[in-house]
Amino acid sequence: MSSQETIRRRNALDIFKMKGKRKIVSLTAYHAHTASIIDPYVDFILVGDSLGMVMHGLETTIPVTVDMMILQGHAVMRGSKQALVVVDMPFGSYEKSPQSAFQNAARIMKETGCGAIKLEGGKLMAETIRFLVDRGIPVMAHIGLTPQSFNTMGGFKIQGREEREWSALEEDIKAVADAGAFSVVVEGVAAQAAKLLTQAIEIPTIGIGASSDCDGQILVLEDMLGLSDSVPKFVRKFGDLKQHIEQSVIEYADAVRDSSFPAAEHTYSMKKDIKSD
Ligand code: KIV
Repeated sequence: MSSQETIRRRNALDIFKMKGKRKIVSLTAYHAHTASIIDPYVDFILVGDSLGMVMHGLETTIPVTVDMMILQGHAVMRGSKQALVVVDMPFGSYEKSPQSAFQNAARIMKETGCGAIKLEGGKLMAETIRFLVDRGIPVMAHIGLTPQSFNTMGGFKIQGREEREWSALEEDIKAVADAGAFSVVVEGVAAQAAKLLTQAIEIPTIGIGASSDCDGQILVLEDMLGLSDSVPKFVRKFGDLKQHIEQSVIEYADAVRDSSFPAAEHTYSMKKDIKSD
């Protein structure tokens, strides 16, 4: 019998049950390496379509494809053990019909092994959410500032800053909760509205730029580590990796140029005692 303890990976139901008990902690990751570093400390890891900007230097998430999400989703699954892994459905992969959303979501789940998918949209997506959940696909919804609507919203616009916008947000969040989503990301929403939205539903809200009144928080890992050049107001930099990386590269370049790297300890020598027959 193995003495190793089996680690059970969290599932969507575990996240759902955390509402009202403790804050839910989450970060994005796109690589096995970063996934394994954050895995012990987060409840879920989101393989966000923000990978389009962070990994590929795109200006928006619009060009991201299902294949890109699958490649990185698989990497994050390999790098993590205990966190629920949620993979974003990219623009164009779920809006046309519940059936086409199911095909793409099922492919993402089969090929990555992830435990849930996330899609953007409120009441317009409720029918699709219900269709997916009824067929075994746990769905995290995403309302408020939805980056995939960049072109129709006219940019990245904070929502709910006027009280008259609140009822539409409330309708959205209630619709996705009623449709069976296990959780909902609330992005770029004024604090007072985020509080109201969190109190309006039984499923946990995961805030990003939506105040500490949400049931949990998520940030893009590279933003909070200080790797991204410009970040929104809601990001706190918990590290300054950019400076660390730059300094390490400067030292490496100097060491190569002055031949102090590689040193003897980084170098292979001849086999000393080759035995002859
Ligand atoms: O794509 C992403 O990283 C996201 C989070 C910022 C919520 O959707």
